[in-house]
Amino acid sequence: MTAPAPIRIVVGVEPTDLDRVLAYHRVTKHQPQRFARSLGYMDWDTQPDPFRRFEGAPRFDLPLAAGEVATRYADLYEPGAVTPRALDADALGAFFQLALGLTAWKQYGDARWSLRADPSSGNLHPTEAYAVLPAIGDAAAGGIACGAHHYLSHDHCLERRAELAGDAARDLAARLPAGGFLVAVTSIHWRESWKYGERAFRYCQHDAGHVLATLRIAAAALGWSARLVEGASDDVIAAIAGVERAEYGRLDPVEAEHADFLLAVAPPSERGAEVDAAAVANALRGAAWTGAPNALSDDHHAWDVIDVVAQAARYPEDTARGLDGAERREPEALPLVPPALANGMPVPDVRAEHVVRTRRSAVAMDGRTSIPAARFYAMLDRLLPRAGVAPFDALPWAPRVHLAIFVHRVDGLAPGLYWFERDARVHDAIRAQLGDGPAWTRPDGCPEHLRLFTITERDLRGGAASISCGQDIAGGGAFSLGMIADFRRSLEVGPWWYRRLHWEAGAIGQVLYLEAEAHGVRATGIGCYFDDAMHRVLGLEDDRFQDLYHFTVGGAVEDERLQTHPAYAHLGARAKAAGEGATP
Ligand SMILES: Cc1cc2nc3c(=O)[nH]c(=O)nc-3n(C[C@H](O)[C@H](O)[C@H](O)COP(=O)(O)O)c2cc1C
Repeated sequence: MTAPAPIRIVVGVEPTDLDRVLAYHRVTKHQPQRFARSLGYMDWDTQPDPFRRFEGAPRFDLPLAAGEVATRYADLYEPGAVTPRALDADALGAFFQLALGLTAWKQYGDARWSLRADPSSGNLHPTEAYAVLPAIGDAAAGGIACGAHHYLSHDHCLERRAELAGDAARDLAARLPAGGFLVAVTSIHWRESWKYGERAFRYCQHDAGHVLATLRIAAAALGWSARLVEGASDDVIAAIAGVERAEYGRLDPVEAEHADFLLAVAPPSERGAEVDAAAVANALRGAAWTGAPNALSDDHHAWDVIDVVAQAARYPEDTARGLDGAERREPEALPLVPPALANGMPVPDVRAEHVVRTRRSAVAMDGRTSIPAARFYAMLDRLLPRAGVAPFDALPWAPRVHLAIFVHRVDGLAPGLYWFERDARVHDAIRAQLGDGPAWTRPDGCPEHLRLFTITERDLRGGAASISCGQDIAGGGAFSLGMIADFRRSLEVGPWWYRRLHWEAGAIGQVLYLEAEAHGVRATGIGCYFDDAMHRVLGLEDDRFQDLYHFTVGGAVEDERLQTHPAYAHLGARAKAAGEGATP
């Protein structure tokens, strides 16, 4: 018998950033008997403005796409199927509209709120985007200036933050991907913490992941590629977006805008080009900056743990540590199987723009609609990473987020719990955790390349709903799922992986949203779920794997009390000229 290990009491030792992130994750788990800390009520007096505006910044009105993008939905996922568009104002307008633009206004009584191409927890939209562009047209004659611009979805315009001219402009343009541009994405945690309190940091990261995918998919619709710029530290991204400049000093610090990621968007032939993000930031530091950010709320509630985790999970300046460190792995080489050819999986014949602009979250599921197994498999196929295929080619790492799927109503597949791994290399580790109880059988008729395994066959509608904080949408659809991340090992490489895992989960969610829409059903992201209850269902005992996001797909029930209005009618003549109001 070995002696028990001595108990070590460590006094006065500073927690590491990893400790801080792990503690944040633990303390923000919802438990049936204790939800993560929040106000517990809606403080309407402090509700943040969902739109960032820059007072005094010159604006460039982007053209509205309205039916102009002919790309078929299936072609989004076929490398080379879409001829790359030249970078002009029309293409840029279509890009931002498909990625981040308004898609509708909803009205109930006197209340009116907008919806966007990107979904958002609580429709609070913490994410902001900044484009670093070469000159497009002649700025003096109404073109777009070379520099950094904020995208304002409400008015579908660019607000000019930083302008460069002459040699400085030529120098910046030479640092951008040829024929393309950069998009810096940031989050305002306050927008989410206003409603959700301490768990809000997670939701901001999910939203950022959804946006990563909407940007990549919008690029695909225009024949462009998009990829995270590796090694761009948060400080560099903040400098590019201008979010730590003096003009932010007039805002309450709770409203701070935090760097998320930098995306290089360009024709596919340029996708390999390296971007020196620090040099771009330096060039922009010397630019003429204009505009002051609007205050979002008159008063605030501070949630200290959000500031702590935001600091601990920053991506540091020391790029020698690398994006992935020792853990960097290329995605497995997967055969590029046109889904139509693989086991008769159906391909929806619909325009990409239509799918993107009509995407909506289901607020209720009908508890009846089933989908054929072939459709279910087609949706899973889209979640696999393939070279040059949106959106997962934007992430320079192999998949670390896998799915535990509650199948409720899939014709040809028994109801039950299934494991879908997006990278075979996780198999032994998850199998060791789940033990020998499950048979680990492959469902009959499942295409060979989809690594789907049966864990248990039984009716899990009630269980799925109660794990999702009692939300019926998780049991009333065709299937729902938890996204299980290879957690501890990733965070040990660097605590910033906490954010990246949520981005990957958000990107998976975005693909499911669009797939559901294209296949005639609906989806909803579910941020409210009982973390450890889900871990217990799976038999996960430690934090090697953690459940980071839930999702549901099924037949939606429309809320007939809501009126729907066109996205951009408030832009008047601009909207009319673009035929706004017509079906996208
Ligand atoms: C990260 C995330 C978490 C979400 N969590 C929930 C949830 O727990 N329950 C729910 O009904 N909807 C949830 N939603 C859906 C949002 O409420 C929805 O996206 C938002 O109201 C905007 O509507 P739209 O998706 O139709 O544009 C979530 C969405 C996201 C992106």
